[in-house]
Parts: sequence; C-alpha cells; structure tokens
Amino acid sequence: MAASRGEFSSRIGFIMAAAGSAVGLGNIWGFPTQTASNGGAAFVLVYLVLAFCLAYPAFMAELLIGRYGQANAVTSLQKMSRTTFHKRFAFFVGFGGVICAALILSFYGILAGWMVSYAVEPVLQLAAVNDAANWVVAQSFARNICFAAIFMFLTVFVIRRGVEDGIEKWSKRLMPLLIVLLVILIAYVFTLDGASDGLNAYLNPDISRVLEPDLLISAMGQAFFSLSLGTSVMVIYGSYISKEENLVSLGAQVTLIDVSIAFLAGLLIIPAMYVAQAQGVAIFAEDGSLISGSGLVFTVLPSLFDTMGSIGLFVAFIFFILMSVAALTSSISMLEGPVSYVVERHQVERTKATTIIGVVIFLMSALIITNLDMMLGLVATLATEYGQPIIAMLCCVFVGWIWHRSEILKELQQGNDNIENGLFWKIWPWYTKFVCPTAIAVVFIHSL
Ligand code: PFF
Repeated sequence: MAASRGEFSSRIGFIMAAAGSAVGLGNIWGFPTQTASNGGAAFVLVYLVLAFCLAYPAFMAELLIGRYGQANAVTSLQKMSRTTFHKRFAFFVGFGGVICAALILSFYGILAGWMVSYAVEPVLQLAAVNDAANWVVAQSFARNICFAAIFMFLTVFVIRRGVEDGIEKWSKRLMPLLIVLLVILIAYVFTLDGASDGLNAYLNPDISRVLEPDLLISAMGQAFFSLSLGTSVMVIYGSYISKEENLVSLGAQVTLIDVSIAFLAGLLIIPAMYVAQAQGVAIFAEDGSLISGSGLVFTVLPSLFDTMGSIGLFVAFIFFILMSVAALTSSISMLEGPVSYVVERHQVERTKATTIIGVVIFLMSALIITNLDMMLGLVATLATEYGQPIIAMLCCVFVGWIWHRSEILKELQQGNDNIENGLFWKIWPWYTKFVCPTAIAVVFIHSL
C-alpha cells in the first residue's frame, strides 16, 4: 500500500500542511473571542500553558500513531492492537475521530463561507453594485447556502488532487502570506488611539482568575481545536511523514507556529476592539461582557478598515481573503480524515470518494443552515467540546497503555537516533500515560 499512498515531499511541506490545518478560524477568530470573553490576559496565560503542556504531548501521540501505522486513523490504531478488544476499541476511537472531523467541517464550512462573502463585498462596492454588496454580507438562507457551497467546492478541489499536489502545494503558498498580512495589520493598529488600552487588557493578567473552571475548560477546548486534535486529522497527516524525519521537532515546530499565530491574532483583534470602542462602536455590554462573538470579526474589523480611508476597501479584501485561506488549509485537512478512511478501508477511488463525502458534508451544512441559531451551536458543542477531548484522550490512552514502550521508542528513533538520551523520552511516555488522560478527564468532568 505504501507505494500508492501520498507522502509529504519535504519537511517544510509537512510543517506548512500541519500548521495550515492547525491555523484557521480557531486562531484568528476563536482565540481572540475567547480571550475577550474570558478575562483577557488570564486566558492567554492559561492557554499558553495548556497548549504546550497538554495539547502538544497529545498532538505527538496522534502524529506517532499515524507515522507508525502509515494508514488512516482506524487502520493505524488497529496495527497497534494486540487483542480483539483492542481492535474494537481502535475502531471506536479512529472512526469517532473521522465523524468528528466531518461534523466540524459541516459547520466550519458555513463560517468560512461568511469569510468568502466578506472578501467579495469590497470588490462589489468598488464596482458600485451596492445591492449585491449588501446581499453578500446580510444573514440570509440563500447567501449562507451559496457561500458554503463555494467553500466546499474549493475544499473538494484541493483534496481531489491528493497530498503533494493538493494539500502540500496550497498550504506552502498560502500560509506565509497569512503571516505577513497579520504583521502589517498589527503594525497599523498600533498607530491608532485606544490600541494601548487593548494591549494592556491582552497582556496584563488578573492572576486570580486563572483557576476558574469556565476559563480552564474554554482554554483546553481552544487548544485542542486549534491543534486539530481528536479528529483523526493529525493521525493521517502523521502517516504522510517520511520515516526519516524527526517527529518530535516537527511536532514542536507546528505547535509553536500555531500558538504564535493565535497570539498574533490576539495582538491585532484585542487592540482593534479598543480602537473601535474609542470611535464609538459598541463592543462591550454594560456588565463588561462581550456583545457577540461574531461581532469581533464582522463589526470590529470592518469599522477598523473604515478608518483607513480609501485603502480600507483593499485591506478588507486582503484580510478576508486570508481568513478564507486560513480556513481552507484547515478544511482540507478535515476532509482528508474521512476521505483517507473511505479510500483505504473501502477501496473507493480518491476523486470519487472526495466528491461523495464533500456532497454529504455540504448537505449536513445545508441542514444546519435551515436552523442556524440552534443547530450551529449544537453541532459545534457536540464535536468540539465533547468529541475532540474524548477522542484525543483515548488516543493518549492507546499510546500509553496499549502500545509497548519498546515499540514507541523504535518508532521515535526513526529520524532521531539519539532520542533515548533526550529529555523528551524521559518525560513524554510517562506523561502521555498518566498526566494527559487524567488532566483531560478532570477538566472535562469539571465542566459537566
Ligand atoms: N485547527 C483549526 C482552527 O483552529 O481553525 C480547526 C480544525 C481543523 C479543527 C481541523 C479540527 C480539524 F480536524
């Protein structure tokens, strides 16, 4: 099977693809929104700790499962299994991840569609077709269906082309562009009145809040969502990494990129909120809570772009194009989970599997759009607050309790001869066995 499977052609190809999966609406929209609604800098602090101490070790477990198995999540986990019970458990965990990825894509595609529509709006404004410009940014059934369909089409287009020519090629082009634009926008925001208050709220933590249960659960959920854990995605991306690569350092680099971009996005959006407030845009309710999550991206930023005069339309266009791009490199990874499962387990041809699964997930999106207010939150909660932590926890259990330590070492030694003497090997196996599952379970049970 190895010959017919794709593989990332280079180290940088993997880093860009995995960072592309990790960096998305979760970083640029989710993280600043969560930060603003959970007490600012205290949330940032907890998030950073959990991302490196809990999400990174769990991320390594998923990459390792995939690279060892060289197959989709279910097959990879079953290769590690020794008993029939393990094999059943493997199916439950792997297939659970595949379902989770499909559920996430069904609502993520709708939100990403909004980003595309906000990118189209400045173009229509420039062309002076005002009715159309208003239509694309107004909430309506037709608009939501139309842009979710466009976005799903793009996702299917990339995934049909496979690993090297699709996922890797596009991620490598699009990710650097995103970073450059973020930095330029941050530099601009810092020149405006009100930005320093935002910076203070973002970087000056109220330490008394760091152990609040709501804050902990939100930060853990955000860290898992951001690293695309518990969805089979990082298992399948791990399976496309060459055996010559050093997995530990690859994983660390991707985590670092993911966390840094979330941090940068906060550095843009939180000060931008205070700038908008200084200009009279309502951001906070009277009790100090945030007016609405979507308000951050669809109220704060457009009002910021308005301050830029005629160049504002251009900046709005670039910004929302990049949001769409960040969402696209994430959505292709979500589609790859179910596609690789069907291609490898049911011998369906790749292009056919991609199209069928793309259509099915789009129909799920359409169903959500029929009752957006209720269904969006429901599916998002189910998949991200329950599905992802549970599956990620079970992957850690698999590596820690079912796999032999000697086999883990053998896999890690590929591409890293010296791993046995390093700090990672002294801490991580023990950590994945006891600390990760317990910590995830405790935070999870606490939230119930
Ligand atoms: N990590 C992505 C983000 O932060 O936007 C979202 C995501 C991608 C979640 C892939 C799950 C997944 F499988």
